[in-house]
Amino acid sequence: MHWTQRILTSSLLLAMAISMPATHAQNPASTSASSEQNWWKNAVIYEIYPRSFQDSNGDGIGDLNGITTRLDYLKDLGVDAIWLTPIYPSPQVDFGYDISDYENIDPPYGTLADFNHLVAEADKRHIRIIMDMVMNHTSDKHPWFIQSRSSKTNPYRDWYVWHDGAGETATSPGVPPNNWQSDFGHSAWEWDPTTRQYYYHKFYIQQPDLNWNNPKVHEAFRNIIKFWLERGVGGFRFDAITTLFEDPQMRDEDVLKDKNGQSFRNVYGDIALNDTRTNNLPEVHDVMQEMRTTADKFDSNKFPGTRVFIGETYLPNIGELAKQYGAPGKPEFQLPMDTQIGFINKLDIAAFRSRIDDAETKLNGNTPLLVFDNHDNPRLDARYGDGVHNTDIERVISTMLFASRGASLFYYGDEIGMKTTPPTRKEDVKDPVGITGWPKDKGRDGERTPMQWDAQANAGFTTASAQPWLPVPPTYATVNVKAEESQPDSMLSWYKALIQLKKNNPAFAHGDNVMLDTANTKVLSWMRQTAGSPSVVVSVNFTAEPQTVSLTVPGAGSGIKTLLKTPGAAEPASLGSIHLGPYGVFIGSVQ
Ligand code: GLC
Ligand code: CA
Repeated sequence: MHWTQRILTSSLLLAMAISMPATHAQNPASTSASSEQNWWKNAVIYEIYPRSFQDSNGDGIGDLNGITTRLDYLKDLGVDAIWLTPIYPSPQVDFGYDISDYENIDPPYGTLADFNHLVAEADKRHIRIIMDMVMNHTSDKHPWFIQSRSSKTNPYRDWYVWHDGAGETATSPGVPPNNWQSDFGHSAWEWDPTTRQYYYHKFYIQQPDLNWNNPKVHEAFRNIIKFWLERGVGGFRFDAITTLFEDPQMRDEDVLKDKNGQSFRNVYGDIALNDTRTNNLPEVHDVMQEMRTTADKFDSNKFPGTRVFIGETYLPNIGELAKQYGAPGKPEFQLPMDTQIGFINKLDIAAFRSRIDDAETKLNGNTPLLVFDNHDNPRLDARYGDGVHNTDIERVISTMLFASRGASLFYYGDEIGMKTTPPTRKEDVKDPVGITGWPKDKGRDGERTPMQWDAQANAGFTTASAQPWLPVPPTYATVNVKAEESQPDSMLSWYKALIQLKKNNPAFAHGDNVMLDTANTKVLSWMRQTAGSPSVVVSVNFTAEPQTVSLTVPGAGSGIKTLLKTPGAAEPASLGSIHLGPYGVFIGSVQ
């Protein structure tokens, strides 16, 4: 399952006869060898959509120099690493995920010199830069594809996935080789008249899939990875990684059936299909082992420390996620994203309890990477909010994100409570998927609006007299960094407090994650526990009504010291009686 099935997930699973398969610190500022090796294990990773973060030259488009000017803010927030969505030269059909040169910077974002400057300035603050690595496809304007499509005998022909149509005649292309669909709607095959064959594209037509059965493709990406390692990056986030391979026999995908046994249409109006022939094929593991070997062998005195591999790993169950870490002696990702937890997309306490527990017990001791939000999904308010208690619900979500064991990844703007702001008119839509899917799927513009820095014009994102590339949401007057920095009860202060606990409290930083009070259907409670430090308990109210919980921690008394709680809530006197307001949160140290 890929994110494009995001809006379908809950309704689809209810509608379909099938159900989800069994769901189920180091101080980063220290420079000791061990902390350099293990920095990612409880890392706080911040996703930046560069186009929307900070414009430095007044053209209405965010850029690298803009990010550099905001590093002190990120340092203060407690960020260890920044993942940048793609900044390479690109026709920008998919806003950078269609790459035409993997070893340069797209001019609107700056230059390689600006990039080096960003890495150096980030390094001074012990912040790592993570690059987005798109290996499934290139832009159709990449020189490899321009060559590939030029003739059937071109040396680059076999770098992409070409196939004859069915029933082709001298005058007609016939029909695509099989029923495979693009995740962005309609057939995944595009007829190319020059050589009279179809090419495969899992995403937009302008994103032809690379052929990973060709060793030259492997070699090209090993070199690209080394190119960026030379520049001191802290690692990579591998885009759409599960989609690298397709069924060599080209078999049709199965048609999905609803609970009445009928096929149905997806948001693009296409017959909904399964994706077992084009997603999560086992050969991906070999590629990731190869890339990990490449990175692990890379030696640099200038930039010591582990390079982390993060995976965009939307997978159907915890077992498939566990495989992404690799086998003993054959490592793959350190941090494949656990989308099992963060994209449940409703406050279903049983699902959260079992899936957070799965991350603790079914990943063979590996580090989970929790993530609840990104540039492909409506923001937290739209997926978890009830319209009344959104702020409190965002506190609930961020508590699960930072107070569970593992690394935490979050999306720019969540720390100030930015809201999803989709376009209201089709003619304003920038993300092509929103044009294909309008009005059911308005695309991804709503979660990509400019960062809200202050209450000045354009929220401090740009000095442009022209408009920013996407409009600044009207909420910026109150939802902005400057205002929230001075408010102890703001979302920003809440994020900072959680991140500080995650880094400085030993039980939070490294402790085991143990579920408590597991029969409770209203309040999710868990404990973090490590030898030599007081245990910490966390309770979050999943309901709009006040709740009281009574917890017992084996081997401990009932004394409790408040570490963090929803603003305005009373401090509990004992573990036996913790009162929580609607969607309230309590975190305390067991005495
Ligand atoms: C990933 C990216 C998404 C992009 C797609 C195709 O899912 O997160 O933004 O459109 O891959 O590259
Ligand atoms: Ca700019």
